[in-house]
Amino acid sequence: MCRTECVLALVALSFGVAHSWDIAVTTGEQLEFYSNNTKIRNEGVRFRDLTALAYDAVHNMLLFVDKQSDNASIFSFNLGTKKYRSLVRRRSDENIQDLTFDPVEGKLFWTDTNERSIFWISMKPGSKNNDYGNLLIKMDDEIPRAIAVDSCRGYIYWTNINVTKPTIERARLDGTNREVVIDTNIYMPVSLAIDQQTKQIYWADDKEGIHYSIETADLDGKNRRTLMVGTHHQPYALTVSKDSIYWVDWGYRSVWQLPKNPPMYSEPEEIKAFNNELPFGVVANYQIEDQTHGNPECENLSSLSQNNSVINDTFYIPTDVGLFCVHGIKVSGKPLCNCTVGYTGERCDISVCQNYCFQGDCSLTSDGQPTCNCNNGYSGNRCEVNVCTGYCLNNGICSLNEKSQPTCQCLGGDHEGERCQTLIVLTTTTEAPPKTETNQSCNCSDSQIINYQPMTLSPEAYPNSETIIEGCSSWDPVRDPVIVVLGILCGLLCLACAVLITKNLQLRRRPRIKKRIIVNKNVTPMTARPDQCEITIENCCNMNICETPCFEPRSTIRPSLLDSKPGKEEKKNLIANMEYPDDPY
Ligand SMILES: *[C@@H]1O[C@H](CO)[C@@H](O)[C@H](O)[C@H]1NC(C)=O
Ligand SMILES: *[C@@H]1O[C@H](CO)[C@@H](O)[C@H](O)[C@H]1NC(C)=O
Ligand SMILES: *[C@@H]1O[C@H](CO)[C@@H](O)[C@H](O)[C@H]1NC(C)=O
Ligand SMILES: *[C@@H]1O[C@H](CO)[C@@H](O)[C@H](O)[C@H]1NC(C)=O
Ligand SMILES: *[C@@H]1O[C@H](CO)[C@@H](O)[C@H](O)[C@H]1NC(C)=O
Ligand SMILES: *[C@@H]1O[C@H](CO)[C@@H](O)[C@H](O)[C@H]1NC(C)=O
Ligand SMILES: *[C@@H]1O[C@H](CO)[C@@H](O)[C@H](O)[C@H]1NC(C)=O
Ligand SMILES: *[C@@H]1O[C@H](CO)[C@@H](O)[C@H](O)[C@H]1NC(C)=O
Ligand SMILES: *[C@@H]1O[C@H](CO)[C@@H](O)[C@H](O)[C@H]1NC(C)=O
Repeated sequence: MCRTECVLALVALSFGVAHSWDIAVTTGEQLEFYSNNTKIRNEGVRFRDLTALAYDAVHNMLLFVDKQSDNASIFSFNLGTKKYRSLVRRRSDENIQDLTFDPVEGKLFWTDTNERSIFWISMKPGSKNNDYGNLLIKMDDEIPRAIAVDSCRGYIYWTNINVTKPTIERARLDGTNREVVIDTNIYMPVSLAIDQQTKQIYWADDKEGIHYSIETADLDGKNRRTLMVGTHHQPYALTVSKDSIYWVDWGYRSVWQLPKNPPMYSEPEEIKAFNNELPFGVVANYQIEDQTHGNPECENLSSLSQNNSVINDTFYIPTDVGLFCVHGIKVSGKPLCNCTVGYTGERCDISVCQNYCFQGDCSLTSDGQPTCNCNNGYSGNRCEVNVCTGYCLNNGICSLNEKSQPTCQCLGGDHEGERCQTLIVLTTTTEAPPKTETNQSCNCSDSQIINYQPMTLSPEAYPNSETIIEGCSSWDPVRDPVIVVLGILCGLLCLACAVLITKNLQLRRRPRIKKRIIVNKNVTPMTARPDQCEITIENCCNMNICETPCFEPRSTIRPSLLDSKPGKEEKKNLIANMEYPDDPY
């Protein structure tokens, strides 16, 4: 009884200690630990350029790559003993992208994109290894990048980032039974994680352009689901914990978190943003109990964690490897490289041509300096100047001629010249303009033309690129009189409008034309007895269309109403009957 209690207490204690961190991140020379989204500590000051990271929950051990270490490339850090060990000797021209550890077989696996291979070493006590690692799978067309292990079923999974045929593949831990798991609707699967609890693979796909997605599928690639799609992330490493997915993103230089079963349209949470260093690898503190709980296939893994299994992480890495110089010779006795012509950097691994020419081909001069052979339409030492930028004035269209010189096609027909800098003066045939006027035409001073500054491709120069060279702003004999005349006409039009409006208002106040004729209902017809008919004529504004005769009380039908112009006569009568109160209109 006491034993079980003690075991429980121990488990609880180890649980508490183990939960002191949620995620660990490699960035620059630091191994950083985060809990509840805040950094709790740093490790690894003796390292220089940490990249890939893996976690072995059974042995409470982190495994990582230091790209700039002198004699080894893969190291372990025991979180219990706080001891570092170098595990694998540095290979010439290596590029280790990811690594994973299988505690059941005690094997460490890693991918090397330069060698297009998967390597391994065994950390089982008494095993024999190659210093540089043992080759597991050598590929031809595929480029292995991310790697993860399914310890319960004994598979390694990896992603292949050959963009013409990207895949997610798996094989047995000994490299046999290789098969493709995912090969459709995938662009660049940059990272991969396996979750024993959900029996799923998770991966981040750095889709074309600014897009990315976080996806999941069963271990055999079936039941595929997209957990989220987004933009502007550049996912790098991805890991799963009990409840969440974490990934490192180079777009925002951040670590993001998303629930394993995110609701629709959910947004990831930013755990940490980095300013100076780029985060590279990320692992979550995912305890074996949480991973294997209730999963009989994982019995070997869960029993391992209880049996306190030991590994041998004492590897002999020859110390005489020294500083690794990629394109150069080690200076004897000093941690320095003497680089061959055309290379630079601490390890002579950077070509001086790298990113030197913006729009052209780079080559080396005899003294090892980079020089550019610019593409058509570019100039400058680093081909950073687009010869067309700002060349044509007044909205002229720039193109290159056979000699790759810029030429302008002037638009609108009012400018001419090599750079559309001259305004064409229009002369009318009827009225020859005075000679002096011809010389008043826009004469752009030379300084205005030569002021033209070619735009460079460097971003600092961009704010200046808005400077637009205008033509002369002095009096223009063609354009300006037209504008003046148009202005005057406009003014006159407004005045006329105002007058019309006031008149209209006055018209409304004109008196109504009212005629009252009493009609006696008993007597008909109306026309025959005008005295007894009552008609009210209102608002008879346009007299000419008032075809209806208006009856006068005193008179009978007038002779004029019978002649050919009844309208006019009618108007006359109406005006005569108007009541003019006070308006003189
Ligand atoms: C996490 O941090 C927040 C505030 O930053 C605090 O309110 C919360 O209690 C913390 N949770 C744990 C489990 O420490
Ligand atoms: C551990 O590995 C080293 C080197 O491979 C070997 O010399 C040593 O004997 C091993 N120790 C055990 C306990 O297997
Ligand atoms: C990608 O794979 C195709 C064949 O599927 C191969 O022809 C091509 O060379 C590969 N690309 C690279 C960069 O290896
Ligand atoms: C567990 O390990 C034993 C012996 O190492 C092996 O025979 C068995 O197949 C393993 N079980 C699983 C599920 O891998
Ligand atoms: C772990 O210990 C149990 C007994 O406590 C034993 O049955 C089991 O085989 C051991 N597993 C391994 C992998 O050593
Ligand atoms: C790696 O080299 C350094 C000296 O550069 C040495 O101090 C260290 O012991 C070496 N590590 C191993 C594991 O041999
Ligand atoms: C580097 O090598 C060149 C010749 O390859 C030699 O002249 C020079 O002294 C070397 N520099 C150092 C620091 O050893
Ligand atoms: C107009 O200018 C041209 C040179 O730009 C000059 O040759 C010509 O004499 C000038 N005409 C007058 C009337 O000043
Ligand atoms: C235009 O200006 C230049 C220098 O500013 C001067 O040499 C030239 O005579 C001027 N032409 C006219 C037509 O005024």
